[in-house]
Amino acid sequence: MIGGGYVGLVSGACFAEFGLHVAVVETNPDRLSALREGRIPIYEPGLDVLVETNARAGRLTFGDDIAQAVAGAEAVFIAVGTPPRNGDGAADLQYVHAAARQIAQALTGYAVIVTKSTVPVGSSRRIAEIIRATRPDLDFDVASNPEFLREGSAIDDCMRPDRVIIGLDQKQPERARRAEAVMQRVYKPLKKIDAPLVFTGLETAELTKYASNSFLAMKISFINEMADLCEKLGANVQELAYGMGLDDRIGSRFLNAGPGYGGSCFPKDTLALSRIAQEAQSGCRLVETTVQVNEARKAAMAGRIIAACGGSVNNKTVAVLGLTFKPETDDMRESASIPILHRLAEGGARLQAYDPVGMDAAKSLLPPETTYCENALATAQDADVLVVLTEWEQFRSISPDALAQRMRNKIIVDLRNIFDPAVMRESGFSYLSVGRP
Ligand code: NAI
Repeated sequence: MIGGGYVGLVSGACFAEFGLHVAVVETNPDRLSALREGRIPIYEPGLDVLVETNARAGRLTFGDDIAQAVAGAEAVFIAVGTPPRNGDGAADLQYVHAAARQIAQALTGYAVIVTKSTVPVGSSRRIAEIIRATRPDLDFDVASNPEFLREGSAIDDCMRPDRVIIGLDQKQPERARRAEAVMQRVYKPLKKIDAPLVFTGLETAELTKYASNSFLAMKISFINEMADLCEKLGANVQELAYGMGLDDRIGSRFLNAGPGYGGSCFPKDTLALSRIAQEAQSGCRLVETTVQVNEARKAAMAGRIIAACGGSVNNKTVAVLGLTFKPETDDMRESASIPILHRLAEGGARLQAYDPVGMDAAKSLLPPETTYCENALATAQDADVLVVLTEWEQFRSISPDALAQRMRNKIIVDLRNIFDPAVMRESGFSYLSVGRP
């Protein structure tokens, strides 16, 4: 497994749990030394136990020596980052290509080189070209196996996936059959739970990942726009979403209105899909619009907080609950909190924030003058407004009276709809949420 980040580490540990022998290669020295010392460098519920058990059983090892890791491997997974390229939003493939070259140099026999990273259509064939150019003698096949795990429930997603998509080079049926046999063996334990293994061509597998993430991003932007409409018309977006979601063609998930989607996947994957479509001279207007709607959403939410403070946050103390892009992760990449807090800081706000696990990662991304608090209630001390940005479960049980005692002005802007408007009003708050009267 090349790359020991959110995807590589979780899938590596889950494969080891399947009973496979997994060698994770990680080049970031901090991440690697943590893993070698038995610490988990990312926050993911349950991952510590899974890693420890499998490492102790000798099925899961960590190192930076790719030659040692791939020696004798039947499958080599690439799970390195594919961040957006500066300038045009296309996926930056430099880490994937570098990994492909390193794997080619290190392999000693036949292996399937499998891309788990989210990569544009055509990347698996490009990886095959790189490997052929680096090692013309090597017998190998490529496969595309995009990862669909969600941070926060990543282990369950890997152990019990809705589906596993595996793209093979169907233009070469003999080779595809050989690679399929290896992939069947990797995922054999999933047969017991009837998780579908979907075998497709390389291009379809690559595109399925972008299409899925963009569809979910579109669903979020749709409900965010419905929230705005509900506010204008006196309707309630939570009840609307509940009513819509009962239709199983629609489904209830990803219908929570909020401050705009973030994270390491949706923003970059929607941009990358728009780019892929442009290059293919094919229309992708829904996704392009989703990107625009989401950008506008984050700016509008900063404006909503400023308006709640009477039109200016200058010299006002803003308490912020939650910083990560969603609960149960320490991932701050592209979190809506970043542009929102920067806008508030530009407006002269004093920011005091708390997040259960995201504060370390937040420090380099949020305005430097942000004060980080020890707990949720401490953020409310002398605050003029309290803003909820991430719906961590622990925030739901905060006593409104305890907040009221600490705050200077009793204003709450709840961008995740975690509190009950009636309860908040009874406690004397001026309470604004999203899409609810
Ligand atoms: P990450 O940045 O957490 O992990 C990537 C790791 O690879 C880093 O620790 C880096 O040091 C390491 N690395 C880079 N080049 C290497 C090399 N040549 N040899 C060894 N290690 C190397 O990224 P994350 O979040 O795990 O994402 C990886 C890919 O999976 C991306 O393409 C992403 O879009 C995709 N993905 C991410 C999901 C998520 O929830 N984070 C979910 C599904 C897909």
